[in-house]
Amino acid sequence: MSARRLPLMCGIVGYVGSQSALDVVMAGLKRLEYRGYDSGGVAVLSDGGLAAAKKAGKLVNLEKELVERPLPAGTTGIGHTRWATHGGPTDANAHPHLDNAGRVAVVHNGIIENFAVLRAELAERGHELNSETDTEVVAHLLAEEFSATADLAEAMRLVCRRLEGAFTLVAVHADDPDVVVGARRNSPLVVGVGEGEAFLASDVAAFIAHTRSAVELGQDQVVELRRDGVTVTGFDGRPAEVHSYHVDWDASAAEKGGYDYFMLKEIAEQPKAVADTLLGRIDPSGSLTLDEVRISPSELREIDKVVIVACGTAFHAGMIAKYAIEHWTRIPCEVELASEFRYRDPILDGRSLVIAISQSGETMDTLMALRHAREQGSKVLAICNTNGSTIPRESDAVLYTHAGPEVAVASTKAFLTQLVACYLVALYLGQVRGTKWGDEIQAVIKDLSRISEEVERVLETMEPVRALARTLADKDTVLFLGRHVGYPVALEGALKLKELAYMHAEGFAAGELKHGPIALIEEDVPVVVVVPSPRGRSVLHDKIVSNIQEIRARGARTIVIAEEGDEAVVPYADHLIRIPATPTLLQPLVATVPLQVFACELATARGNEVDQPRNLAKSVTVE
Ligand code: G6P
Repeated sequence: MSARRLPLMCGIVGYVGSQSALDVVMAGLKRLEYRGYDSGGVAVLSDGGLAAAKKAGKLVNLEKELVERPLPAGTTGIGHTRWATHGGPTDANAHPHLDNAGRVAVVHNGIIENFAVLRAELAERGHELNSETDTEVVAHLLAEEFSATADLAEAMRLVCRRLEGAFTLVAVHADDPDVVVGARRNSPLVVGVGEGEAFLASDVAAFIAHTRSAVELGQDQVVELRRDGVTVTGFDGRPAEVHSYHVDWDASAAEKGGYDYFMLKEIAEQPKAVADTLLGRIDPSGSLTLDEVRISPSELREIDKVVIVACGTAFHAGMIAKYAIEHWTRIPCEVELASEFRYRDPILDGRSLVIAISQSGETMDTLMALRHAREQGSKVLAICNTNGSTIPRESDAVLYTHAGPEVAVASTKAFLTQLVACYLVALYLGQVRGTKWGDEIQAVIKDLSRISEEVERVLETMEPVRALARTLADKDTVLFLGRHVGYPVALEGALKLKELAYMHAEGFAAGELKHGPIALIEEDVPVVVVVPSPRGRSVLHDKIVSNIQEIRARGARTIVIAEEGDEAVVPYADHLIRIPATPTLLQPLVATVPLQVFACELATARGNEVDQPRNLAKSVTVE
């Protein structure tokens, strides 16, 4: 699956050659800073020893540290810029991680799902672990295996066979000073081959200034870098074929993975982002293990009301969450714009659970809403994409989405992962309160696990959507209609179009049409309709088919998003966009994707700046 190879989270660089490893690695990290920027670190091999430096915050903090405490010169080194998943963004949690003897250093991108078990085993064998990360276990395991094999690549293979999850690892060992070893499973890693030097990085942007000759690693492969070449093997030790290619991107295209805009790259990353947000949260028996949600099951059983607060796209995720929470748990759920919440004196007490959803974790409106909720004695659970940001820090508990950094102002992959996190919270509430049977929960989890592939399929069929968008570039208005969970999807589709194409776009609940908005329909006005599954509650489906007929009779140009096999809509659709069949509540995960592509293409056709639309900011830290 192509999206599996797309970069998410953390940036990694490795180098062996004749230049200063520190200079090469730091320059590479700067080119990767867009991938994550909450901490950074480097390790250099020199004179039989290993020296490392790491610092929380942006790379400038690390640069200052290196000026104050310079590392010895060396020509083999590794570096990392972090987007925290396990453990907050502190100096101790920053990479590289070292073993207790300080001989091996490792950097990591991804999530090691079985790290808790490995950590316990290491502690039993007398290892001292000094961070909260999943990564540190790898440094200790590598040290153990190296002492038995004296071969870093072999040690890496042995360790990788014991790891579960998604990971890119790059390591060096002071006793093997001319080697950098990398490993890859479900996370990106690219090798650059130069004259007497070699590079490893999360993407080619890190080394494009030095070489355009690259080798892409396959799944479950280990690469050994030496000055005179690279050797690739499988985790099982078998030699692997090496596929070289020439990189013809310039540095800025390389950062965007070859896409014209970060938004396009982030749309394409959604299958992986969705899969990553599920990682480590489902135990082998299929139950949910949200250990990170530090509100005890007994407290969750006491909850008599859920209130969701958020802004913008995150608010739309909250609107969808309400349907799932009420349906699966039977707990009343309100959703409110964070900016409105505290000013109307909401009714809250110790039995209310407030869920604050925020990609950045810094949105002031959402922060003020959660502070107000906590003052009233309510518990606050944050759903957030930015580890260590203010909103999760001030909340009682947090469930992180694993979308990786989102650079484009218009939110895409963060939205889909917020939905996944909301579904997980809803199911978890159902699990601890016993409102859903275990097998029912497992069935939904199974459906959720399939969504990543469904999103991938949607992405593969987007060319007609792009072509359609281009024909609408001169329109003034586009309307969006939906019912049930399709209603917030319609709002999100309209928001994307406003943000990016600067067009008048409105989303309506299709049932409200007759109460006013239908007056807006005139000849050739494009109306996007999100159609619920005919396999769900048929009344919903039938009603929306009538709505489509009503607007079409008044001249609307209908753009219908309907699941595969829904033939009832065909006669009324001027343009039909097919999405895979999903359970009703999960449909927003696939139905939103064409709307993102639609808005992005319209913005491009209108000559707008896609990643940084006018007047908007990625993170709004004022009320
Ligand atoms: C800004 C962004 C929106 C985002 C909203 C909430 O307005 O432009 O794209 O949805 O903030 O941001 P948050 O980081 O709290 O999810």
